[in-house]
Amino acid sequence: MTINQDMKTFIENMPKAELHLHIEGTLSPQTLLTLSERNNIDFPYQSVEAIEAALANRPAGLDGFLDHHYIAVSTMKTEADFYDVTLDLLKTCQQNNIVYIELFFDPQFHTSRGISFDDQFSGISRACEQSRLQFGVQSNLIMCINRERPVESAFEMLEQARPYRDQIIGLGMDSYEELNFPLKFKEVFQQAKKDGYRLTSHCDVDVPNSLNHIWDCLNVLEVERVDHGLMAVDDPKLIEELVARNMTLTACPVRRPTDPGPQDLDRIKTLFEQGVKVTINTDDPAEFETGYLSNMLVEVQEGSQYSKKEMVKFVMNAFTGSWLSDTAKQKYVDQLQEYAASHQVQL
Ligand code: ADE
Ligand code: ZN
Repeated sequence: MTINQDMKTFIENMPKAELHLHIEGTLSPQTLLTLSERNNIDFPYQSVEAIEAALANRPAGLDGFLDHHYIAVSTMKTEADFYDVTLDLLKTCQQNNIVYIELFFDPQFHTSRGISFDDQFSGISRACEQSRLQFGVQSNLIMCINRERPVESAFEMLEQARPYRDQIIGLGMDSYEELNFPLKFKEVFQQAKKDGYRLTSHCDVDVPNSLNHIWDCLNVLEVERVDHGLMAVDDPKLIEELVARNMTLTACPVRRPTDPGPQDLDRIKTLFEQGVKVTINTDDPAEFETGYLSNMLVEVQEGSQYSKKEMVKFVMNAFTGSWLSDTAKQKYVDQLQEYAASHQVQL
């Protein structure tokens, strides 16, 4: 496919936001080797090539992805690791012209390995502050419940986070899907809402019972966004509900080494054209060929032949679907509108 250089430059230079990116999904093969050596980890791979081969050979599906993901994440141990990884990521955001990002992290996976919540939070938040000053990239943090762990462990995480309540914007939910997981965490989400957290949850694609999970996230957990959620395309009533609620879906059309292009482009297009507020996100950029946001948006544009106006709309959805204050949101919306107007794109 020929690359449209004008479109590519337009996408790369656009001021962008991202709402679905896991800090732990940004460990490049080189970083994995550095961390495993510095932390004396018995890591199963000894070279960049071996790690790339392992990535290429992951079984398809969520479980195959996560089994590999957690081996990689086990190389993170110290406060300094959390700082370095987060700062590297935010520098890459700057290179992608991402001006605002909401970042996921997985406290329970780390506390279960003996890393305190305080150490994780300290490293991550120091990097976020440094990035704001040094790179001009603004960020907010969302802590995720691991769905396969007990409810008591999720409540424990809420307690560990209490001293940092005003520095963590939201609660999310990720990791292995269990049947009817939203019902399992109803009380945790009720407590988090009382505590003032914004709420979201993963509803991954191509997993059993996905439509019920999305409905229950909306009606039982009272989430304000759905992460992934693309199976909604199979239920016209659900599409209607998502549009009526102006609900943001954080789609992640990642591409694995064996995929011809980004996944789920047809589902995304159908939902987008029916008026669902879809955003485009990279999820775990070091673990997929699509990588970081500029490249992913270029691949999505090429795959679905979106216009410049449509590409601006996807990015606008991320700013308006963010959890920034109305004033902060407006500043970014104005910036994006000016960018579009300066490129003769009428919104
Ligand atoms: N952890 C990191 N990425 C994830 C995803 N897409 N789904 C569930 N858990 C995850
Ligand atoms: Zn995710």
